[in-house]
Amino acid sequence: MIEFKEKENGFEYIEVKNSAASAKIALQGAHIFSYKRHGEEDILWLSEVSEFELGKSIRGGIPICWPSFGMNNPDLPQHGFARVAMWKLDNAVDTDSSTTTLTFRYKYSTKTLQLWKYKFDLEFKVTISDKLTMELTTNNLDSKAFKLTQAFHSYFNISDISNIKIHGLDKKPYFDALTSTKKQQNGDILFDKEFDSVYQEVDGEMILIDKDRQISVLNQGSSSVVIWNPWIEKCKKMSAMINKAYKKFACIESANAFDDFKILNANESHTLKAIIF
Ligand code: BG6
Repeated sequence: MIEFKEKENGFEYIEVKNSAASAKIALQGAHIFSYKRHGEEDILWLSEVSEFELGKSIRGGIPICWPSFGMNNPDLPQHGFARVAMWKLDNAVDTDSSTTTLTFRYKYSTKTLQLWKYKFDLEFKVTISDKLTMELTTNNLDSKAFKLTQAFHSYFNISDISNIKIHGLDKKPYFDALTSTKKQQNGDILFDKEFDSVYQEVDGEMILIDKDRQISVLNQGSSSVVIWNPWIEKCKKMSAMINKAYKKFACIESANAFDDFKILNANESHTLKAIIF
C-alpha cells in the first residue's frame, strides 16, 4: 500500500507499507529516507537536522548521485543533479502482501539540457519487502555517447562508529581520496579516523557488522564501492549534520565510480542494482 504525504512545508513523499516493511521516499531525488522491517530499527540513517527543502539534498537515506559521482564532471554540481530533481512516480504495485514495487522516472528537459547536453531517460525501480532492492536504469536517448559515474549513496544507521566493521572487501584495491593514493585493503574495515575511499573490483556481498545486527549490501552492474565517514572535523563543517552525527552512520555507496565509469553510446542503457538486507 502506498500513500502520498507532505511535510509541513509541502515537501512531498510517499509512504510504503506492507506486511514485511515500511519505507519513505521523497519525490525530489526519488530519495529513500527510511526503510524499516517491522519490529526493527531503521536500516537508514537520517540526520535529525536534515532539511526537507526543494533544491537541497536530504542528509541521510539514499541520495542518488547521477550522472556524475563526486566532482567527476567539474561542470556539474557535486554528485550530479538527479538527487535534487523532481521525479515522477510511474507505477506502484503490490506483488503480494509483503512486496511493493514502485517505479520512478526522470527524463531530460530543456532545463537538464542546459546543465548537461545529453538526452536521457532514467528509471528507478524500488522494491520494498524483507529486502530493499533498487535498480537504476540509465537510457541514452541521445545521438552522442556520454560518460556516466553514479552511486546509491546509502547512509546506514549504526549503534556507534566504534562498534562497527565492514566485511567483504579484504584484498581489494582501493583509491584513498584523502591522500590520493592507491592501496590494498587488509582484513575488515574499522573506523578510527576520516574515511573516504573507492574500492575496486568488488564482486561480492559486503556486511556491515554492528553490535546487535548485520546489514548486507550486494551490487550488480557495479564493481566499485565508496566507503565514507567524515569523522570529527569534517562532520562539523558538513551541512545538515550535528557535530556528533559521524558516530551514527557509515556510508557504503554502491557505485560506478573511479575507473568503473560507463560509456553509454546512443540508445544504450545500463542498470545499477543494489540489494540491501
Ligand atoms: C561522499 C564523498 O561520497 O559524499 C565525500 O566521498 C562527500 O567526499 C560526501 O563529502 C557527501 O557529499 P555531499 O555532497 O552530500 O555533502
